[in-house]
Amino acid sequence: MRKLNSSQLRELYLKFFQARGHAVIHSASLIPENDPTVLFTTAGMHPLVPYLLGEKHPNGTRLTDVQKCVRTGDIDEVGDATHCTFFEMLGNWSLGDYFKKEAIAWSFEFLTSPEYLGIDVDHLAVSVFAGDEDAPRDEESAKLWEACGLPKERIFYLPKKNNWWGPAGQTGPCGPDTEMFIDTGKPKCCEECSPACDCGKYIEIWNDVFMQYNKTAEGTFEPLKQKNVDTGMGLERTICILNDVKSVYDTDLFTEALALIAEYSGKTYGESEAVTKAFRIIADHVRTAAFIIGDDRGVTPSNVDQGYVLRRLIRRAVRYGRQIGLRRGSLSLIADSYIQKYAEVYPEMVHNRDRVLDEINKEEERFIKTVSMGLKEFEKIASSLDGTFIDGKTAFRLYDTFGFPIEMTVELAKERGLTVDEEGFAKAFAEHQQKSHAGSEQRFKGGLADASEQTAKLHTATHLLQAMLRKVLGDEVKQKGSNITAERLRFDFSFGRPMTEEEVREVERLVNEAIAEGAEVTCEEMSVEEAKKKGAIGLFESKYGERVKVYTMGRFSCEICGGPHAKNLSSLGHFRIVKEQSSSAGVRRIKAVLE
Ligand code: SER
Repeated sequence: MRKLNSSQLRELYLKFFQARGHAVIHSASLIPENDPTVLFTTAGMHPLVPYLLGEKHPNGTRLTDVQKCVRTGDIDEVGDATHCTFFEMLGNWSLGDYFKKEAIAWSFEFLTSPEYLGIDVDHLAVSVFAGDEDAPRDEESAKLWEACGLPKERIFYLPKKNNWWGPAGQTGPCGPDTEMFIDTGKPKCCEECSPACDCGKYIEIWNDVFMQYNKTAEGTFEPLKQKNVDTGMGLERTICILNDVKSVYDTDLFTEALALIAEYSGKTYGESEAVTKAFRIIADHVRTAAFIIGDDRGVTPSNVDQGYVLRRLIRRAVRYGRQIGLRRGSLSLIADSYIQKYAEVYPEMVHNRDRVLDEINKEEERFIKTVSMGLKEFEKIASSLDGTFIDGKTAFRLYDTFGFPIEMTVELAKERGLTVDEEGFAKAFAEHQQKSHAGSEQRFKGGLADASEQTAKLHTATHLLQAMLRKVLGDEVKQKGSNITAERLRFDFSFGRPMTEEEVREVERLVNEAIAEGAEVTCEEMSVEEAKKKGAIGLFESKYGERVKVYTMGRFSCEICGGPHAKNLSSLGHFRIVKEQSSSAGVRRIKAVLE
């Protein structure tokens, strides 16, 4: 395996595909054009959607690039070894040109040839699509891998939830894929251990998508006019693998930023878990903020859409900066080091340098000013609280008046053993948005509390999830928290041990069964007493007024809640649990998506 740094990897990748007839194109903007369903560009294929659907690309039918991407769905995970909100994706495309044969042969050559990545064939594993009613089993790809020299036992057939990609938004091009993994050599975690496990034996390095379908708004898959290839290789993760380091923060991309954070805080990266986490959050968030502002379609901090994500990133960096004693004004200097680091690849950062530094400084100052007033207000609220629960309206007031992002209120509350009504906050936030954007078109928003159709669906799915968890695990399951973004739901509940794989799959199956029955979601108003008599479940009862809304979903769920909800279960689509993990002592956390 060759120890390449980030510049070498970019260069080598583009050169490889250029030599094979691909035109090198510049990364598109991070802020998508003509796509209201997402806030940021999340994959290399995203700006190419019109061409994947058949429009002619001015540079021909073979393209390659390095695309700037932002994904904020996992923002809470940033601080661990692997999560970043900004990343670069290396990719190559065939627009109705070559298909599986060439794509697989080239992937194999790039990964294993000593001139390129030089990965030992014995350390490579791949997965291919197992087939279902939408598309056949991908024997062809498996044969092509075998022809490259991969033994059968390292070619895995996996179902749609693992080996299907897209669409990027709600509709658009998608198809079966073949994914490439590094087999770390760790022992198998179980008999069926495969790249589908997250035991750490297999690490994904590249994904070749064979885009043959267009998913319509009705959820059907239509064959595309042309067969395309869309591949994506995460730059950060690949350099980690090549250099045999565990964390993206140990790669050359973060060297200067981490050194500056150390210099301006007087702390040492790695001196404690908390310090490491703060360093990583600051390094990640400043990088993403610099890219969002430094884009040619760049935005500035605000209270809506991309501007709100940006505000949240900068304020989170300020907050973690305070924890480690980072000097005021340091964030823009860290941003400047990224601008220099990326100057050659993304010259727009250099053109927009003044705006980047200025906006980061201004937002830091705004935040510092309001935060000191807000902290006083928070202390007042916390000390006069009747119980341990901060209601949604209060959390919204902290946001609206003092600029406290909800997660900051949650974190502050947690430090004092208090909880916050995040759903109530989301509702107050949505009402505020509706008032200020009356009549404006609804959008799906990434990583935000909002009232879009998708969050209503995820919220509805949360009710079903809770009901089925109680069915499978027993009545000790009680809601401890819920957080919904446009991409996923997150549900915390009391339960004393990890769920088994069987239990997870059973809960998933029951939720999908309920969705398939397609019951109407009905709402009735009644008193708390009547709701209890009706058998409705409801947490945080103290927060409810005299009369409550009870939502019933067929025979599956009956719950006191404020909404918003889907009208009919059939609109939810397919429910999938992505993760089951510990949240805190005696509390488990599930993340799930609707596909
Ligand atoms: N679109 C695919 C991905 O994001 C391949 O580029 O993995």
